[in-house]
Order: sequence, then C-alpha cells, then structure tokens
Amino acid sequence: MFRDVSSCNTYNYGDALYWDARYMQEQGGAFDWYQRYSSLRPFVRKFVPTSSRVLMVGCGNALMSEDMVKDGYEDIMNIDISSVAIETMRRKYEYIPQLKYMQMDVRDMSFFPDESFGNVIDKGTLDSLMCGTDAPISATQMLGEVSRLLKPGGTYMLITYGDPSVRMLHLNRPAYNWKIALYIIPRPDFKGPAGGSSMKSYLEPILMTEKGLLPPGFVLEDPESHYIYVCEKIDETELPTYPLTANVL
Ligand SMILES: C[S@@+](CC[C@H](N)C(=O)[O-])C[C@H]1O[C@@H](n2cnc3c(N)ncnc32)[C@H](O)[C@@H]1O
Repeated sequence: MFRDVSSCNTYNYGDALYWDARYMQEQGGAFDWYQRYSSLRPFVRKFVPTSSRVLMVGCGNALMSEDMVKDGYEDIMNIDISSVAIETMRRKYEYIPQLKYMQMDVRDMSFFPDESFGNVIDKGTLDSLMCGTDAPISATQMLGEVSRLLKPGGTYMLITYGDPSVRMLHLNRPAYNWKIALYIIPRPDFKGPAGGSSMKSYLEPILMTEKGLLPPGFVLEDPESHYIYVCEKIDETELPTYPLTANVL
C-alpha cells in the first residue's frame, strides 16, 4: 500500500500500463485496497441509499461492488482505466445484472450526462492519480467530472490514505459546491490498545479547522489511519429563501 510520494516514485500508480500489467499478473484474483466492504459498510449504508445509481470510480479487481450487491445495492456502474481489469470483472460478474463495467478514464467521463449518479465511491483512485504526472491537473479534472455527474444532494465518498493537509486543497473548491465531512478509521489489521474506539465513535465526524485541517492536538489512534471524506453536493433548491421585506429593500 502506498503512503507517500516516495512509494509513488517506486510504482507508477498514475499509469494505465502499470495497472494493466499488474491485473494481468494477478490472473483474475481479487484484492481490496485499504479496507473491505465489511468495515466500510456503516458509512456506505449511512450515505448511500440501496436504490441509488452508484458510480464506482477505479474499481480495479476489488470485491467491494460485489459485496454491496449482496447487501442490497441495485445499480453499480464500475469504471477503470485498465481494460484488463474491466474485461476480467465483466466476465466474472456477467451473471449479476446489478453490476456493469466500462473502461474509462476518470478525468474524462463525458460518456455520462450531467447528474447521472446519486453517489460516487472512490477507494484509492484519486490517490493513484496523485502519484501520476501532472497530479494536481488530473485531480482537478477528475473531481470536476465527479461533481458534474452527481445529482444535487448526492455524495462523493473518498476513501484514502491522504489526511486533510493533502486532500482538502483539492476537494474544497467552490466550483464543486460540496459540503465535506471527515471520518477516520484505523487500518483493518491495526492492533490498538484494548478498549480502543468503537465503530460508533468512528461514525462521529471529525470537526476540521476553518483551513480544512485536523483540530490542533488531534491524536490518531492508528498513525496510518484511513480517511473517509463524504462530499455532499449542495442542493441549491433546498437552501432557505428569505422573503424580501420592506426593511431590506
Ligand atoms: C489503488 S487501486 C484501487 C482499486 C479499488 N478501488 C480497490 O479499492 O481495491 C486504483 C485503481 O484506479 C485505477 N485508475 C488509475 N488511474 C485511473 C484513471 N485515470 N481512470 C480510471 N481508473 C484509474 C487503477 O487501474 C486501479 O484499478
């Protein structure tokens, strides 16, 4: 698992050829980065209705989408830049009509019309782009597309190793119109002190500072925690309207 720029340099995570070669080598196996659906389920069930049309960006060969369908999700469009991953997954899941697969670059999803999806899930894909060449441009292209594809009131759920100091500058752009909540969970194999946080407390959002940073003095239970950013596209039609009264005219 990559954590910083030095491991970015070791593997070319931003390059489609790297992923094709890797998926070829894995010969139809399955691998979930960071977390399995079982640990993410409380977050997914809280923010993603089972009837929603979901876009899984950079699905790879993860079991996440299959597990979501087993849990009642009805419509998941999976995309990935790797044609090897997409062909393998399409063949593997041809008997599951709730799962669809298309080879696509997240930086150009013009195939889909605006507001096509209720929810977008990203586990490790923005992270891969951040390792590629022109990373900030790629991130802006990807996130602009994600914002365009979301219905008002829908969410982009980003599961990443990136803490707010390296992710909020990309996520918190006025053009996307997102209200962002942050959650933090330990790695699945992290052995914390006995009596550590319960899942209930992981479901409490972390209040970031005005600058979009962790609160001063915040201590991570697991120093290599994973971060879940839930970015809700503000529904302008639901903003309160104030009648014009004589004293404001
Ligand atoms: C770290 S893996 C995560 C895979 C999967 N989401 C998971 O949780 O296991 C990143 C995935 O993003 C895909 N990817 C990288 N760049 C991409 C791009 N520009 N467009 C679409 N997918 C991309 C890779 O092929 C790879 O499958």
